Amino acid sequence: MPTAQEVFGGGLAVVTGAGAGIGAGLTRHLAGDLGMTVIAADVDAEAAHRIADELGERVVPRVVDVRDPDAVDRLACLVTDEFGPVRLLINNAGVEQFGYLWDVSPVNWQRVVDVNISGVFHGIRAFLPGMIAAGQRSHVLALASVGAVTSVPLQAPYIMSKHAVLAMTECLHQEVAEIGADVVVSAVLPGLVESDIFSAAGGVESGDIAAAEEHRKTMLAIREQAISADEAAETIVAQAARGEFYIVTHPEVVHAAMAARADQLANHRAPAPHRSRFAAAE
Ligand SMILES: NC(=O)c1ccc[n+]([C@@H]2O[C@H](COP(=O)([O-])OP(=O)(O)OC[C@H]3O[C@@H](n4cnc5c(N)ncnc54)[C@H](O)[C@@H]3O)[C@@H](O)[C@H]2O)c1
Repeated sequence: MPTAQEVFGGGLAVVTGAGAGIGAGLTRHLAGDLGMTVIAADVDAEAAHRIADELGERVVPRVVDVRDPDAVDRLACLVTDEFGPVRLLINNAGVEQFGYLWDVSPVNWQRVVDVNISGVFHGIRAFLPGMIAAGQRSHVLALASVGAVTSVPLQAPYIMSKHAVLAMTECLHQEVAEIGADVVVSAVLPGLVESDIFSAAGGVESGDIAAAEEHRKTMLAIREQAISADEAAETIVAQAARGEFYIVTHPEVVHAAMAARADQLANHRAPAPHRSRFAAAE
């Protein structure tokens, strides 16, 4: 099996949401350990520059809002013109949302759809044609979640968005195969990884505000069991190098969630009352 160094070493990577959490861990691993040039794209200018300052000239900070298709197109043109073909695209930027679905404001609903779903689509639209045309092997990863194969109350917009990302990525995998392009497509289904996602998550402004904030507290508390972003990055990139489609950071948790979902669908069972998917570790 090829190593991450053999597959990615010295190449060019683009990581969205690179300023914090998993994106920052990926950027550190790709630039620091594998010697890649990394375009660190983030809507948060300070965060993008912080990771570039930390890692030196191999990391190129770019302020990009993945919700804006024109901004992502401009990023792709600039990257191709200045740096050449992209070997690894990681559509990582994502946001959380807590609260009962009927309490979520349309604005917060739209934020999740725009960042988590459309952001991934914009990345694919902007970069894939160039990656296919380059005719060299390249990889595209989308950050889904263990939530892509399960359901969780008080996180419906987020869970819905991750199901969408997984479905989009599965279709993309088939499409790339259909045209015989040398692009390896993978979906990343992390479990709990240290990051800012729960503190940055949207809440609700009316309805059961207490329930939404209680759920945030629970998620912040179970975050104690999270693995570090650096550890997550290393295993994600190693699995990508091996050409895995389903990339996981917590194999037991994800495989149990996949088996439970397969059983639910195969046996036409309604979703069971929720128990934390991390219960085994609690
Ligand atoms: N941390 C976890 O436990 C976990 C688990 C499963 C999946 N994920 C997924 O991993 C990805 C990264 O999450 P994280 O936990 O590192 O989150 P995080 O909040 O720590 O970092 C997300 C980064 O994305 C950036 N971002 C947000 N909106 C953006 C936009 N519109 N355009 C560009 N950048 C934007 C933020 O500024 C931030 O730097 C997300 O897609 C998330 O859903 C995370």
